[in-house]
Amino acid sequence: EKYLRPETKEVNGIPMTKVISDIWDQIWSFQAKPDDLVIATYPKAGTTWTQEIRNITYKQHPFIEWEMPPPLKSGLDLAKEMPSPRTLKTHLPVQLLPPSFWKENCKIIYMARNAKDVLVSYYHFSRMTKTMPEPGTWEEYIESFKTGKVLWGSWYDHVKGWWDQKDQHRILYLFYEDMKEDPKREIRKILKFLEKEVTEEVLDKIVYHTSFQVMKHNPMANYTTLPSSIMDHSISPFMRKGIPGDWKNHFTVAQSEAFDKDYREKMAGSTLTFRTEI
Ligand code: PPS
Repeated sequence: EKYLRPETKEVNGIPMTKVISDIWDQIWSFQAKPDDLVIATYPKAGTTWTQEIRNITYKQHPFIEWEMPPPLKSGLDLAKEMPSPRTLKTHLPVQLLPPSFWKENCKIIYMARNAKDVLVSYYHFSRMTKTMPEPGTWEEYIESFKTGKVLWGSWYDHVKGWWDQKDQHRILYLFYEDMKEDPKREIRKILKFLEKEVTEEVLDKIVYHTSFQVMKHNPMANYTTLPSSIMDHSISPFMRKGIPGDWKNHFTVAQSEAFDKDYREKMAGSTLTFRTEI
């Protein structure tokens, strides 16, 4: 069975797949429960990693996604049937999170990752995932990313939008680069936020099972169970490199300088800062 690249359609100015925009009313009126945990990210910032930390901590599998493509069962239906406490992951920008999550005061873990590595990862992901729009050439993709003409919209608006809300709500705002630098330290933060106490031995196990090398070979985490008509791992694996700084292997010096100039303009006035390597 052949999958076609999806049609995209904007919802409140944010490009989404038609599959999602068609059921947007249902998503917007989604009923949250107070003990729901939301994992919110811009794509490729460490969604799967954060979800795996949560899953290993509570010994739960598999992932639940809102954005499952048909004919797989809709992520929305899965979410409704899921036993509590639920973990729901989303790439929605902060202004489009269904309002019941705010009303129920749900805990939210937001994971952010530096723009250039996200761009590289998103580019390869778009090449290998047939349910994503075609990325075009590398040069074209840089432009699409800068102008927010990719699924889930502008990275710049996404990271800033969630950053600006983090002190008003129960949001734990984490960085991919910090996770890489000291996973144990960051996982401790997650456990504290989840009010989950574990022994040092269990903590070490969580760190081990959520390392890139282990997750890369774990079929429950690396998406290799999906048919190649959806994800073609021979084009690029989902668990690709798992490091900060791979952008240097992709951007030319000129591309990087142009990107940085535009970046400074888009991020001007924000207190949010990123490291591009560790
Ligand atoms: S998605 O499709 O939006 O859900 O993708 P997401 O899971 O957010 O991001 C995928 C990138 O995260 C890397 N990854 C990890 N890095 C370090 N450690 C662990 N455990 C880990 N798990 C996933 C994954 O390799 C993708 O990044 P790149 O740079 O492409 O390797």
